[in-house]
Amino acid sequence: MKIGILTGGGDCPGLNPAIRGAYLRAADFKDEVIGILNGWKGLLEKETISLSLKDIDEITSHGGTILGTTRVNPAKHKENGLKICYENFKALNLDAIIAMGGEDTLGIANKLFSEFNLPIVGVPKTMDNDLSCTDYTFGFDTSVTVAIDALDRLRDTGRSHRRIMVLEVMGRHAGWVALFTAIGAGADWVLIPEIEPDLDKMCKHLIKAKERKGYALVVVSEGIKIKVDKEERLDEFGHMILQKRGVGKIIADEIEKKTGIETRLSVIGHIQRGGPPTLFDRILGLRVGVAAVEFVHQGKFGTMAALVGNKIIPVPLIEASGKLKLVDEYWYNLANILFK
Ligand code: F6P
Repeated sequence: MKIGILTGGGDCPGLNPAIRGAYLRAADFKDEVIGILNGWKGLLEKETISLSLKDIDEITSHGGTILGTTRVNPAKHKENGLKICYENFKALNLDAIIAMGGEDTLGIANKLFSEFNLPIVGVPKTMDNDLSCTDYTFGFDTSVTVAIDALDRLRDTGRSHRRIMVLEVMGRHAGWVALFTAIGAGADWVLIPEIEPDLDKMCKHLIKAKERKGYALVVVSEGIKIKVDKEERLDEFGHMILQKRGVGKIIADEIEKKTGIETRLSVIGHIQRGGPPTLFDRILGLRVGVAAVEFVHQGKFGTMAALVGNKIIPVPLIEASGKLKLVDEYWYNLANILFK
């Protein structure tokens, strides 16, 4: 078989292990593997490279993606973009595509499968961990590990200067990164997109925490629902570029005003999306990459290789990309138990 692999949307640690897993499993079947460069843009423009063992030998510890990525949406980027993708798939003599991405990339994969019957298998990736039908996505564990390290460092300054330290983390629609960072690093409060911020309640609690410990730590997700007076720029999938909203600054200023305690903000931004993947992301990436090739050979098209329990199983792309997995009550309540 001739299989094309592409990576779309934001890069994240675990993509390279997934590419490696797919390549190595494909080698068992004597498949030819090509890399489609820069997400769906590569299929629109027939930009590909042929992959060899040499290309994937050393990438297990590398963040990012050797195939490059963009947020190009074929349905918006060019007239008849989806049809062009289908025609180029044929012109490249491909038998199947493995698309690695989040809700946007897999949404396009689902359209190409359902509207053009294109043989496609999805691999879930996103540091946001907000894809449905899979317990975790690779990228998430590394991002939270980096954010926890940042908060541990901020604690030192908070304790030394007797300040409130605010850390703004990524997470477009879902607060998983913020919530797990807050739980993992022992923060005093967390603000996530799913829950409307109650600033008075938060400030009361921060004053109490500061009285006891001498400092307090707050984690803010970039996607929280507060009013921001800034022009909003959208990407091709219609998503706002959230970092430019600067919600961390608004929250830190508000905390300082309401509590009278010196407060500082740090925004870790893309630092949390780069660097070597953690063990969890390496293993998960490798497993879903291997499974995707197996699903191709089993003809399980229109599916995504999902982690459910400790197994990798095929789930329908339409379900995985149709609805986001948001923070639920259990997880939010767990964090609240810890805020004393
Ligand atoms: O989708 C992953 C993510 O890191 C989000 O958490 C964030 O809002 C967005 O990507 C940032 O995208 P970009 O790198 O295109 O600015």
